[in-house]
Amino acid sequence: MQFADRLQNVETSAIRELFKLLGKPGIISFAGGFPDPALFDVEGMHSAAAAALAGDAGGALQYGATEGYGPMREAAAALLRGKGAAVAADQLIVTTGSQQALDLLGKAMISPGDRVIVEAPTFLATIQCFKLYGAQLINAPIDADGVDVDRLERLMLEHRPKLVYLIPTFGNPSGAMLSLERRRRILELAVRTGTLVVEDDPYGELYFDAPPPPSLLALADAVPGARDWLAHCGSMSKILSPGLRVGFLVAPPALLAKATMCKQFSDACTSTFAQATAASYLASGRLGPALARVRATYAERAGAMTTALRRELGDAIEFTAPRGGMFVWARLTGGRNANDFAQRAIERLVAFVPGAPFFARDPDVSTLRLSFATVDRARIEEGIARMRSAL
Ligand SMILES: Cc1ncc(COP(=O)(O)O)c(C=O)c1O
Repeated sequence: MQFADRLQNVETSAIRELFKLLGKPGIISFAGGFPDPALFDVEGMHSAAAAALAGDAGGALQYGATEGYGPMREAAAALLRGKGAAVAADQLIVTTGSQQALDLLGKAMISPGDRVIVEAPTFLATIQCFKLYGAQLINAPIDADGVDVDRLERLMLEHRPKLVYLIPTFGNPSGAMLSLERRRRILELAVRTGTLVVEDDPYGELYFDAPPPPSLLALADAVPGARDWLAHCGSMSKILSPGLRVGFLVAPPALLAKATMCKQFSDACTSTFAQATAASYLASGRLGPALARVRATYAERAGAMTTALRRELGDAIEFTAPRGGMFVWARLTGGRNANDFAQRAIERLVAFVPGAPFFARDPDVSTLRLSFATVDRARIEEGIARMRSAL
C-alpha cells in the first residue's frame, strides 16, 4: 500500500517500544506519563455525569457546536479568569484533549518546510504532530528557569519561525518552570518579531509549595499587542481526568476561526457528554479540594524521589528538583548513556524513559525522564535503589 508522503517525516515513538517491556511482573515504573488514577474524584465525576443527564439531557447527548458546549466554554473561561487571564467564553474553543488543540494549530499554521522553534527537550507528541505537517523543528535550549530567552531571541531573529511552542510551567519532560522575567520578555519578543507563541499549559495547577508565575496568557494583557500573538492550550486531563478528553484552545480570533474550521472536518465536536460532565464538575466546587489532594500527593512523591536520587545515585546524576508537575528530568554524568542504563534498569525491574526522543533534533543521550506521579514513597525508594544497582 502506498501511504501518504507526509508519513515519511514521522515514526512510532521509541517510548512505545519501551512500554512493551513494562508488563514484566514486579517492575517499578517511573516511565509513564499518566496521572495517578487513585486520585481521580470518582464520586464527584459520578455526580457530575448524573447532573449532566438530569439537566439538559438532550443537549448533553446530541451533537454539539464545533466551538464547544456552551457551559463548558463558560467553565473554561472562568477557570482561566480565576488564574488572572481575562478570557471570555467566545475567545476559546473546546478541543478533544489539548493534544487536538496542538494538532489544529499545526494544521492551521504549518506548511511543509516552515520553521518552528521548540524547547529542547519538549513534548514528544508535539514533535511528531508538527513534523507530520512538515515543520522543520529548531531546538531552543532550556535551563532550570525554562527556555533560555537570549538564545531564543537569537534563534527567532535568525530563523523567522512560523511559531514558537513552549511549555512554560512544569514542562513535560523538563519539569522546568519559566521565570516571571523570562515570561515577560517572551511576550515582548512575540510582539516585536510578529511571531505566534503557543503556550501549552496542562500542568500549571500541579504546583507543590507555591503557585507558579502567571501564565503567558495571564501576563499578555500587560504587554500591548501580546494577545494578538499568543495561543494557549489548556486541559482537564491532569486536573480532572484524561479519559474525558476535554481541553481547550484560546487564540486570536482569526486563528481560532481557522482552527474551528479544521475541527469541523476532524471530529465535528468534542463529546458533548464529556463536556457537560466536566462543566457540571467544575460548577460543583469539588475541584479545589481534589486539586489540593493531588498537589500534596505529588509533592510528597517528588520529594521522596529527589531525596532518593541524591542518596542513591549521588554524583552520577544531575537534576533540578521540580516545583510542580509530574516529572524529574535528569542527566547522567561521566558520559553515561541513558539508553544503556534503561536497558540494565529494566533487567533489575525498574523502568524510566531515556531522554533522547524528547529532542526534536541533536538528542542528549545522557538524559532521562522519571515520573513520580503513580508510585508511592516506599516503591519510589525501592525503585531508585534498583537504579543504583543498574548504574
Ligand atoms: C505538555 C503536554 N501537552 C499536551 C498533552 C496532551 O494532553 P491532553 O490531550 O490529554 O489534554 C500532554 C499530555 O501528556 C502534555 O504532557
